[in-house]
Amino acid sequence: MLEGKTIVLGITGGIAAYKAATLCSRLVSHGAQVRVIMTEGATKFISPLTLQTLSRHPVATDTFDEHDASVVQHIDLADAADLVVVAPATANIIAKMAHGLADDMLSTTLLATTAPVLIAPAMNVHMLQHPAVQGNLEVLGSRGISFVESGTGQLACGYVGKGRLAEPDEIVEVIIGMLAGRKPLAGRKVLVTAGGTIERLDPVRYITNDSSGKMGFALAEAARDLGADVTLVCARTDGPPPAGVTVVKTPSAEEMLAAVMERLPDMDAVFKAAAVADYRPAEKRENKMKKGPETMTLELVRNPDILQEIGNWKQANGGARRTPFVVGFAAETTDVERHALDKLARKRCDLLVANDVSQEGAGFGSDTNIVNVYGAEGLVLSLARQPKRLIAEQLWQLISRRAAWAPERSEGAGPL
Ligand code: PMT
Repeated sequence: MLEGKTIVLGITGGIAAYKAATLCSRLVSHGAQVRVIMTEGATKFISPLTLQTLSRHPVATDTFDEHDASVVQHIDLADAADLVVVAPATANIIAKMAHGLADDMLSTTLLATTAPVLIAPAMNVHMLQHPAVQGNLEVLGSRGISFVESGTGQLACGYVGKGRLAEPDEIVEVIIGMLAGRKPLAGRKVLVTAGGTIERLDPVRYITNDSSGKMGFALAEAARDLGADVTLVCARTDGPPPAGVTVVKTPSAEEMLAAVMERLPDMDAVFKAAAVADYRPAEKRENKMKKGPETMTLELVRNPDILQEIGNWKQANGGARRTPFVVGFAAETTDVERHALDKLARKRCDLLVANDVSQEGAGFGSDTNIVNVYGAEGLVLSLARQPKRLIAEQLWQLISRRAAWAPERSEGAGPL
């Protein structure tokens, strides 16, 4: 799948450097030409000879080791690359990339390349959470650099938390998606809800909320670009929906419920990003209400909970047929994790994406979001502040690995 592609693999100095050998081996067995650059720190963890043997090319470690007089090595590698992958990426290389430093072979090549860049961070949990590292990751994300999220688990430093290098197979899947154009949602039908429902009082007044639809639109757009056939069920939104998706307009919660339930049996995945009003006016007047006494009381009645209905339907139909993978959102301002886990279980979602909408750069109306994703096992993915579109892509990548229809992993490919 990677025949004819040249991948420059940058390895930096962390204990996870040993996993880069497996990554290199897998890429070679998929047909890629792999050109390895190691930092001095990386060579303390794993020998260049290992990578040379696996890649069948000399390993570059020193900017000044210009053994071929006909080329300038770092420019040659930068130009040859179809993709530059840094795995593992330490806090140090991430900082250098964010600030444009070029003081060794890898950082110089990264500045010189015009190829897409993919980084797989790996470090101690507290280092990863440090605002300096998060800020640098945000800068890289805003420049279009792609990431393979770190995993959560036992870290070499003894801590348990987020910071493990993603598994080599997972990195290979992302690389194949980027280079071979394999679209992880090809052939999948997905439904996304977006926007804030409006609950009418009369022909000119309604109750609604601050949802702009941007998160749902980003999810629909990303799913479309990852190959899915997308149905976007949207309530009130601030802008026009993305092109290339089927749009179903459903202003109110009740209309949204009907549209979603009708299409549910056909879907491979459902993403409930809409902000649905929990209540609607008990009475919808046919004519404009006239001004009356000094105060007035509105009677509201509960709306159906669409996500709950989907969860119930899934449970009732799960044995007899394949049901869609269901992802809910939770917009919270306090006790985010507790509420998120409660909604995940109560509404029977496969995953739940929590956003603390009181945080700057998260939630309603903004172009960015900050999310934690929960599954039955607890926190599965934590995404720092970044454009909603990037968040959406990573959420779909996660779903395409976890859904029942996800492709089998190529365990055991290559000699390592
Ligand atoms: O649209 P943006 O401006 O980009 O903002 C994005 C967002 C903040 C709206 C989005 O990220 C988000 O959090 N959407 C869910 C908002 C919400 O309604 O959260 P909730 O915690 O009240 O509901 C939990 C889940 O149940 C949601 O998936 C919601 O769609 C669903 N729900 C809620 C009530 C209801 N009656 N029916 C539902 O289906």
